[in-house]
Amino acid sequence: MSIKDYTAHQLSIIIDSLSEEDLKKSLEVPPNREMGDLAFPCFILAKHLKQSPVQIAKELEGKLSSSDVFDRVEATGPYLNLFLPKRKLTEQVISEILVDGEQYGSVKASGHQIPIDLSSPNIAKPFSMGHLRSTVIGNAVANLAEKNGYKPIRINHLGDWGTQFGKLMTAYEKWGNEHAVRKSPIKELNALYVLFHEKAKEDPSLDDEGRAWFKKLEGGDSNATALWKWFREESLKEFEKIYELLDVSFDAYPGESFYNDKMQAIVDELNEKKLLVESDGAMVVDLEEFDMPPALIQKKDGASLYATRDLAAAKYRKSTYHFAESLYVVGHEQSLHFQQVKKVLLKLGYDWAEDMKHIPFGMILQDGKKMSTRKGKTVLLEEVLKQTIEQAKRNIEEKNPTLKAKEQVAEIIGVGAVIFNDLKQSRLNDVEFDIEQMLRFEGETGPYIQYTYARACTLLTKGSWGEMKETNPPYNIDEAYLWDLILTLEHFPSIVERAFHEYEPSILSRYLIVLARYFNQYYGKVRILSGTDEEQQARLHLVKSVTVVLKEGLRLLGIKAPEKM
Ligand code: ARG
Repeated sequence: MSIKDYTAHQLSIIIDSLSEEDLKKSLEVPPNREMGDLAFPCFILAKHLKQSPVQIAKELEGKLSSSDVFDRVEATGPYLNLFLPKRKLTEQVISEILVDGEQYGSVKASGHQIPIDLSSPNIAKPFSMGHLRSTVIGNAVANLAEKNGYKPIRINHLGDWGTQFGKLMTAYEKWGNEHAVRKSPIKELNALYVLFHEKAKEDPSLDDEGRAWFKKLEGGDSNATALWKWFREESLKEFEKIYELLDVSFDAYPGESFYNDKMQAIVDELNEKKLLVESDGAMVVDLEEFDMPPALIQKKDGASLYATRDLAAAKYRKSTYHFAESLYVVGHEQSLHFQQVKKVLLKLGYDWAEDMKHIPFGMILQDGKKMSTRKGKTVLLEEVLKQTIEQAKRNIEEKNPTLKAKEQVAEIIGVGAVIFNDLKQSRLNDVEFDIEQMLRFEGETGPYIQYTYARACTLLTKGSWGEMKETNPPYNIDEAYLWDLILTLEHFPSIVERAFHEYEPSILSRYLIVLARYFNQYYGKVRILSGTDEEQQARLHLVKSVTVVLKEGLRLLGIKAPEKM
């Protein structure tokens, strides 16, 4: 039960004219804690009671002051300020967390499925910073969906189809070297692709050759298929290394190629419903009524397009997963594309297209400029992650050289730092990529939260938590920051709910920063392993609760929590 539930329930006993639900909604958090934990705005009762809000506040104060459901009640103008019964609620919150453990804040599974399109890099090309963001945000949203009772289906919609593969095959046939491709596939294939474009500027016939190769591929030609399969496999091997480092896995890998045999059906359907019109030889769906440019469905030479494949994919996902909603975690540059796909589906009469949601995000910047993983001197993402891990290792060497399992901890810290740095701001904001900054132990970083967790774990070991976890101590400790901590811990379930419904992992990241900060303040003021046995037990129960929430919060973001660091 949340603190607002508790308060609304108590108020409903003495207020008849509003439901408990409405009372709960009306509760406000006062601008500062001195004014109370919650405030009830009495003007919302004025009409019903035909009294002034000030009078109502006074009357309610009188009624509640004589009971013990609140520690204190104060009428301040039209507001009734409420001070919650600290000890009772402290006991409730801590016992709920310790009983539920990592299930604290979880919603019972509803069975509804939510496909989440995430990561989706393009084969034969470097894994970009944008794909990193999609992977990290998508994975956190998937974890949050699960926590909220849904079944997420993580789908990697690999960019493994399209005319660019015809171009790549042309380039490989003409200038490629098998050995070089095997050695560093992405670098080599990307270089071939760049070379193709340079040469095609002078010799436009190359473009025709590229188109012809892609036609062969679409038609199932064995030569083309073999080459394509090889490029795909080599690229996937590279991507796997990144997924392993990030510890992200997928439920399904149907790349764009998966829809090759499902697109004619879409084209036929659009034709039957008279939605296809010709434009410069290509087939398009007109979207002028929505003030949008037309959606390109088929090229002059009959080749399919990105949008066609997304239409087929959307239908496939609906019939396979009967989704409650279908999410696409893709950069904001593709907003128009997703709006167009949705409108075409609606024109086809598929109302469920309303449940498709594009979840856009901003760019990753370095020194204020777009960070690129392209071009000849390619910085590959894997290398960037390795650099971060190396730096984390150097930091450990400096701060805690006797730490066990250094390599492993360095990886957890390095990768956690990158993920947290990405998730700590609203996803639409651009993110600055600064390795030194994101690895700092103070401030708003992943390592800061991890370090707080490890510190708390050390306290539990020192205090022999293992021997006392069954006790149920009274909480007659009234210490600095205790109440802030309790209120924050109590918020966790509502944070998890909001972070999912707004598809905004930063709500959870920011919450973890606040929780860690309060804990460190508490730890700085209070000697936890001092005083009577009962006091120590009470404090250790609190510390344990903090570790449960920090660890689960980090897990939801896709970050691991080391017990020592
Ligand atoms: N491969 C695309 C890109 O890198 C992203 C795919 C996003 N998903 C989708 N269903 N269109 O731009």
